[in-house]
Amino acid sequence: MALTALRRALWSLAVVLAAWGLAFGAGAAPEQPASTSRVPKPLVETGKGDKCVEDTQFMRRNHMKLLKHQRDETVHRGIRTAQHSLKGCIDCHASRKTGSVAASNENFCQTCHSYAAVTIDCFECHASKPAPGTQQSRAPSRATTREIVAVIQATP
Ligand code: HEC
Ligand code: HEC
Ligand code: HEC
Repeated sequence: MALTALRRALWSLAVVLAAWGLAFGAGAAPEQPASTSRVPKPLVETGKGDKCVEDTQFMRRNHMKLLKHQRDETVHRGIRTAQHSLKGCIDCHASRKTGSVAASNENFCQTCHSYAAVTIDCFECHASKPAPGTQQSRAPSRATTREIVAVIQATP
């Protein structure tokens, strides 16, 4: 008699604990998506190859400096390296759909820029599509990452 009562009590305790666990699990689950999907992020198409010309995180923050540096080297000093050439960016990052980096807001250079409200005039002069038949066979660069980082750090 007393044993049955004890067993029953243990059973209800187990049921309560199980229900509690369920409620806890159910309560915690919806919080995860809510905290990761704050603001819609721009969708960035992956480039060709397995990596960028520099570390991806670095590129996200510093591509504009690299491009300006590369342009100054080429236009003002006549130095041409392939490492950060705009042509290279376009060869790897042109959209599979439009063939361009800037034909629509989903295309590589536009996706972030339209999101961040950045306007660039580069494609008024530079082609936003790879030249027909372009292969990814650029010459190895002479500038090393360390040199470029040094230039960026020296830039105010
Ligand atoms: C008024 C026309 C014009 C505009 C606008 C312009 N460029 Fe250029 N750019 C040139 C010319 C001309 C050259 C020299 C081409 C050469 O000698 O290969 C050049 C060269 C470059 C080079 C070095 C060559 C290469 O392919 O890498 C880079 C990098 C570059 N520009 C980046 C930019 C970026 C980034 C922008 C936008 C912020 C821009 N340019 C806007 C005309 C322009
Ligand atoms: C050899 C092909 C190649 C070249 C050339 C190249 N990229 Fe990339 N880039 C990639 C790949 C692949 C990734 C994605 C790497 C990853 O997922 O970590 C990438 C990533 C990036 C990112 C980060 C995108 C994101 O997901 O947030 C930026 C910005 C970028 N590249 C800009 C450039 C610019 C600007 C140039 C020209 C100076 C350039 N890339 C040249 C292949 C290339
Ligand atoms: C991962 C997002 C992202 C991608 C992809 C991206 N950009 Fe940018 N870009 C930015 C942001 C954000 C800024 C503004 C940064 C700032 O104001 O400090 C910017 C700024 C620039 C600027 C400087 C504009 C100015 O007026 O100073 C240039 C030039 C530029 N991007 C070129 C490119 C090119 C070319 C591509 C494609 C090959 C590209 N970006 C792809 C996010 C991106």
